[in-house]
Amino acid sequence: MADLDGIKTEAKEKEYYTSTPQQAPGFFLKGSHQYDWGLQNRLSRIFNPKTGRTIMLAFDHGYFMGPTTGLERVDQTILPLEPHCDCLMLTRGIQRSIIPSTTQKAIALRASGGTSMVSTMDEWEGEAGGQAVKLSRPGYEPLSNEHLAINIEEAIRLNASVLAVQVFIGSEHERQSLQNLTNLVDQANRYGIAVMGVVAVGRAMARNAQYFRLATRIMAELGAHVIKCYHTDEDFDTITSCCPVPIVIAGGKKRPERDALQMAFEACDQGASGVDMGRNIFQAEAPVPMMKAVRGVVHEGMSAADAFAMYEDLKAQG
Ligand code: R5P
Repeated sequence: MADLDGIKTEAKEKEYYTSTPQQAPGFFLKGSHQYDWGLQNRLSRIFNPKTGRTIMLAFDHGYFMGPTTGLERVDQTILPLEPHCDCLMLTRGIQRSIIPSTTQKAIALRASGGTSMVSTMDEWEGEAGGQAVKLSRPGYEPLSNEHLAINIEEAIRLNASVLAVQVFIGSEHERQSLQNLTNLVDQANRYGIAVMGVVAVGRAMARNAQYFRLATRIMAELGAHVIKCYHTDEDFDTITSCCPVPIVIAGGKKRPERDALQMAFEACDQGASGVDMGRNIFQAEAPVPMMKAVRGVVHEGMSAADAFAMYEDLKAQG
């Protein structure tokens, strides 16, 4: 039952903290201090406010690669990793079919698609139902011919914190992929959902700092809230420095565990706000120890050497 006592009481009998000004705290994440509450809250689910960094576990590869190595059975290989990451980067098909709706992890939802690895080949030979199959594709199509593969209502239904769109700067379909990005930003901004622009490097493009400075900056200028790109051996700090929003690095092809940890360490040390890593975790010899080692580097201030030693210990323990 409501009562009137609380509003009838004299001011002198209540505590208004009149000598303590209300604080106006800033926001921990680069370039994100002027966003609305909902968007900042979603970004705080992706990036840990204590470290300012994130470990996104990327396993959306199936959207154009099918059941690639390590993702043949997502329920078997990815679910054991889920407790150790901050954010799950995935497709809506896998989210609905495999990921428990009780997960407390942020969702980074794949929002572009429409091509496949097969579409990049002039010919493809394989097997189906025990029969050899050979496809000829004179209508060869590059991976860059993507469109938006989800609408904003579906993203809201799936409680996405961030939507990922591939952008092909300097490649065929550059304009189309930039339109995908800007259309998605327009839709997502209406509801306070973040957009992550993913730098997709065409075969002809050099993976150097000059290219990534250009590509990441263009995406940020066009409204992406987070950018994903590759780490470079040289001048990576110039990429993070001139990009006004957070950058996370993709892992890329599988490399030795020690090297992958070194890359994660250097990227964070040079201004990255974390990793969005897939194959170097789920294709590792021991995926859960690798996930914990990446966590050590990204969130716990471990050196790559210490994290690798921890990886070896955990692997030996089985
Ligand atoms: C690439 O387009 C996929 O969407 C992956 O999310 C991305 O490449 C990151 O995964 P990985 O660390 O395996 O490169």
